[in-house]
Amino acid sequence: MATLEAIKYSRGKLLVLDQLRLPHEHHYDEVSTSEEAFDCIRSMRVRGAPAIAIVAALAHAVELHNGSCTATTPGETIAYIDSRLDYLRESRPTAVDLFNAIALLKAAVRAAVAESLAHPEAKDAILAAYIKTAENILTKDLQNNTAIGAFGAAWLQEQYAASPDRKISVLTHCNTGSLATSGHGTALGIIRSLHAEGLLQHAYCTETRPYNQGSRLTSFELVYEGIPSTLITDSMAGALFALRRESSNIGAVIVGADRVVRNGDTANKVGTYTLAVLARHHGVKFIVAAPTTSIDLATEHGSGIKIEERKKEELTQISGAVVNPDGSVDTTQTARVAIADQRIGVWNPAFDVTPHELVDAIVTEKGTVVKGPDGQFNFSIVMPEST
Ligand code: MRU
Repeated sequence: MATLEAIKYSRGKLLVLDQLRLPHEHHYDEVSTSEEAFDCIRSMRVRGAPAIAIVAALAHAVELHNGSCTATTPGETIAYIDSRLDYLRESRPTAVDLFNAIALLKAAVRAAVAESLAHPEAKDAILAAYIKTAENILTKDLQNNTAIGAFGAAWLQEQYAASPDRKISVLTHCNTGSLATSGHGTALGIIRSLHAEGLLQHAYCTETRPYNQGSRLTSFELVYEGIPSTLITDSMAGALFALRRESSNIGAVIVGADRVVRNGDTANKVGTYTLAVLARHHGVKFIVAAPTTSIDLATEHGSGIKIEERKKEELTQISGAVVNPDGSVDTTQTARVAIADQRIGVWNPAFDVTPHELVDAIVTEKGTVVKGPDGQFNFSIVMPEST
């Protein structure tokens, strides 16, 4: 079975799967400039914190490879790269992976300047350093996700070692799988790893209103992978948890993150906070899967995170393929449909912040962070360089 790939890259060429057309159509857009990447990210043809950062970094790498930089001196070359990265930074405001990638790329080109100033090919050395660093972001993300999957599955196994067959069911929100990353996924990566190890009874995914990343993308990935799974609306989570002891066997809510700040407060797709409150009420573990690229230790509390607000049409309209009278889906015909009075006022925050008190564990590629006796998360175990 071919693996799902949101991003296909070879030096000088970047293809991005248009997620707005999923699950009905598989169409890759060629993204060759910063402007095209900005538009792709802003319009959510690509989304998910790691994927956003990868597409931004690689689109500029393609642009540089294709000769977009007309600067001649090292100083002008750096100024050009900085200006493209500063522009890309404005595409979406909440996920910190993009900002962390930009900081990494800016540092890499500065280090290359320091090393190559005496050489006549200084500009080439700077461009090469940028491209190599951007390509590493892609490679590293896949390694991170596999490690997160293994750490998360192991941590859950420890929690439920005493249960009869060690199997648990889990609930996830939004899409954190191959489509949101370079592959495997973060929260969905843990679910994949649980399944591969025979430890998963069942995966539930929320629809994830208003943008339906759960019903459009996560359901698609779960079905594609043959993982036993069920779709629910966001509003059904409480009912599912209430069945925990009798039938649903929900052992954990596993979500991704757009930004985890120093105290463990976590910004993720709107609705995550509601799930965390419900999970606590029902004694269900609440786990955040976050590569260290999604951690922002410069921000102390969740109140410091900028939450993106999106357009009202995401609530008042919906797109989909046409369903024939016999129930089959005609994937060649898509339609945009009004589902509310178009004059209603709308508030559409794309993310919410789950307070760290409601989070049981934060799974990174370097290990699982839990709270100490003081009730605080200590990230020095996984990010010693940031203490
Ligand atoms: O608005 P989106 O679809 O970009 O939001 C995505 C999420 O909230 C994900 O949970 C998060 O980015 C983690 S993806 C590994």
